[in-house]
Formats: sequence, structure tokens, C-alpha cells
Amino acid sequence: MVKKKTVYICNECGAKFPTWAGKCSACGAWGSIVEEKEENFNKRKSFSVGDTARAVSLSQTLEETLLERIKTNILTLDEAFGGGVVKGQVILLSGEPGIGKSTLLLQVAYQIAKQGSKVLYITGEESSSQVYIRGKRINAISENIFILADTNLENVLTNIEQLNPDFVILDSVQTVYSSELESSAGSVSQVREVSARLTEIAKQKNIPVILIGQVTKEGNIAGPKVLEHIVDTVAHFEGERGNAYRVLKIVKNRFGSAGEIAVFNMTSKGLEEVKDPSSFFLSEKPQGKSGSIIFPYTEGSKPVLVEIQALVSKTVYAVPQRKAQGIDINKLSIITAILEKELNIFLKDRDIFVNVVGGMQIKEPAVDLPLALAIISSFYDKPIDNIASFGELGLTGEVRSVYYTDLRIKECEKFKVKKLVIPKSVEEYQPSFVKVSSLKEAVVKVFNEKNF
Ligand SMILES: Nc1ncnc2c1ncn2[C@@H]1O[C@H](COP(=O)(O)OP(=O)(O)OP(=O)(O)O)[C@@H](O)[C@H]1O
Ligand SMILES: [Mg+2]
Repeated sequence: MVKKKTVYICNECGAKFPTWAGKCSACGAWGSIVEEKEENFNKRKSFSVGDTARAVSLSQTLEETLLERIKTNILTLDEAFGGGVVKGQVILLSGEPGIGKSTLLLQVAYQIAKQGSKVLYITGEESSSQVYIRGKRINAISENIFILADTNLENVLTNIEQLNPDFVILDSVQTVYSSELESSAGSVSQVREVSARLTEIAKQKNIPVILIGQVTKEGNIAGPKVLEHIVDTVAHFEGERGNAYRVLKIVKNRFGSAGEIAVFNMTSKGLEEVKDPSSFFLSEKPQGKSGSIIFPYTEGSKPVLVEIQALVSKTVYAVPQRKAQGIDINKLSIITAILEKELNIFLKDRDIFVNVVGGMQIKEPAVDLPLALAIISSFYDKPIDNIASFGELGLTGEVRSVYYTDLRIKECEKFKVKKLVIPKSVEEYQPSFVKVSSLKEAVVKVFNEKNF
């Protein structure tokens, strides 16, 4: 037998190298290159996505394959997916360990099984009895849910062929391996192979497949980026340990808009939908305390009011601390630098901590202005109750317009927010609006501080 060569593959982009390197020269990622056995993919039949071997007219294709959706009957989840899960759709669900991925998908399995459909739940991480115990606890036992505790891909595919399920859940993609490859389960080649083969079968049989993906310590999906390209939809399940809020975010969706979210509450009976997330997130917002502001967050059709908190305190270290939870630390550094320059204040002897209450990860630029206002509120110890804000900050301190202005304003009005500090470019006018074109103007108007 010919001994297989060792190759080095980048976990981020899937590029191959003959030797190990600290940095991937293809995508620039550091520490992403791992050692693997070279696999001969060429011998296998090529990847095909179903019965599209002959070309058909586009108009005809559309008529033939009108998107048929399966409802999970978990309302917020169906909405987030764009009205249910499409037949043949492949969804990748990722999240930190213990966040509740298996719980959510067992609940989804139960809801689908209740409608009389057959669901195959493949568990590579837990035994069947562990899944049964969870099912008992969250009341999700159904004779239509079939459990397969196996990690061999060929066996999984045989089971799909024999059972002919209406819905497939794989928990998780990193635990399953193909015996045609030599690399171990969870390696780049295996993850790519498992997801590609399951995508192939999903498209052929027109059944939805949900793959659970583990995340790396940086919070990215373990495995090559290729995995995210293969699947139709990528969803992240987020939340904070010790906190009951869980947020499902749709990051990519070929069958609906990305940026949609669904909020859940983790209980001993499983995940409960939160139909009105804004009041849920603001329920414990303190009154009369500095360093807290409301931010209408949205990256899709559903805005949610979240509380942004900042704490500015005298440092005892030579280098002041900057800590951020739910917000990128680089963003905090940039905003701090803008604040120092524009407002002529000294923050180098202060520690700054910021937090998004509820464990949500906020990446959109609209959080810049409220974040800056929360820091200033804590710095001057001046509370800003009943004020909401959104707007992007430029490096010269200008406040720039952001997307979904109308949706954000409507959500703030629903919650009777008294003042809304927003970019000048917003056309609408309301007495509660404080329109600003720069950070300085915002601070002067909100805090009545004139000595900058
Ligand atoms: N008896 C219980 N009461 C309340 N919550 C529970 C109970 N048992 C488990 N949980 C919650 O469920 C979580 C684990 O859920 P689950 O196993 O679905 O997570 P997971 O994301 O699949 O984890 P993993 O990455 O380990 O597979 C726990 O962290 C805890 O929050
Ligand atoms: Mg799990």
C-alpha cells in the first residue's frame, strides 16, 4: 500500500502546503495550519447537487421547484428562517459548548415529528439514552423521531437511504468521519467531506438537513470556511454562560434575508420563545445610573432594544485596561481614541469596561454612537435615562447614517423612549429626535457639557 503523504491545510481557507507555517500565505490567518494526510478526492465521483444534470430553462425551473417550506411551529425560528425551513435546505448551526444547540434541535425535531413527519436525529456526541433523557426533560419524545448514535458517514448515509426521513439533524458535523479518508474526525478534509456528502443527499432527496458545528475558541466555526460556502444557511446560537438569554442569528441565508434573529429563554423544560425581546432585554435596566443607554439593534427585519453599559474607573495599573463583552475590543479602542481627540478628555488613566446586556454579540457600526455616549455618561457620572441612540462614528468624530433607520425608530417609539440621539441625515422629524452630525454635538446636546 502506498503510504499517504502528509500535507498541511489551512483551517480557515482550506489551502494546502507542503510544510507547516505560522501564517497561511493564502488567506493571511495566523495559527490556522494543521497537519493532515493527503486524501485522493479525485477518485471519488464528483459532487453533484441533485437532478440538474440536464439544462432547463430558468422560467421552467422556477415553476418546478417552488420553494416548499416546512414549519417548525416555533414561530420566531420560522420567521428567522424566512417562513420555515425549505425542503432540501442545508443549515449549519454553530455555537459555544453547552449553549443549547442540541436542546433547540431536539425541540425542532419534536415539532416536526408532531406533524407526522419522520425525523432522523444523528448523534455523534452523545448516546441515544442521553438524548432520550434530554427528550424526557423537555418533553420532546415522539415515535417519529429516530435516533442514530453513529459516527460513520457511510453508515449514516445508508440509514438515510433506508429510513427515508423527511428531516435530518446531525449533531455534530465534527464527530462524523468517512472511512474513505484517512484523516481523523473533525479534520478539515473530513468536515468538508461530511458536509458535502450530506448536502448532496439533501438536494437529491429534497430533505432539509441541519448540521451542528462546533466553534473554535475564537468563536469561529471549527473547520474550513469552505463549510460555510457549501451550506445554504449559517446560523449562530449565542448567549452568556449563567444567563438565560439565547439569541439565534442568521448569518447567511440563500432562502431568506440574513441578519434575522430569534430570541429564546433557557429553562429546565428547554428553550422558550421570547416574543417581545426588547422588553425582555430591558426588564432589568437600571434607572438613575450612569453608563447605561438603549441601543436599537437590527441587522434584519426585527429590531431589538438592547442595553449597552460602560464603566469608566481610575486605573491602578501602568497600562489602563480595556475590556469589552459583546463588542469587538478594537472598536472600543477606536471609540476611546475618538473620544479623547474630539472631546479633549484624558482617558489614559482610566480603565474602561463595556458590556452588551444579555450576551448578544454586536458587530454592526450603528452601535458606535451609543457606545461613546455610555462611556461619556460613566466618565462624567451623569445618567442618561430614557435615551436611545444609534449611528456610526467616523474617525474624525462625524456621525454617519446607518441602515434600517425606520425600523429602529419604530421600536424605540413602541417603548416610549423619550429622546433619540440619531444621525442628522435621518429625514423624518419627531419632537423626541436629537439629530446630530458629530460626536461633540451629541455630547453637548445630551449632557449639556459646553467646555470641550
Ligand atoms: N436540568 C436542567 N435545567 C436547566 N437547564 C439545563 C438543564 N440541563 C441542561 N440545561 C441547560 O442546557 C445546556 C446544555 O444544552 P445542550 O446540551 O443542548 O447544549 P449544546 O450546545 O448542545 O452543548 P454541546 O456543545 O456540549 O453539545 C446547559 O448548559 C444548561 O444551560
Ligand atoms: Mg450538544
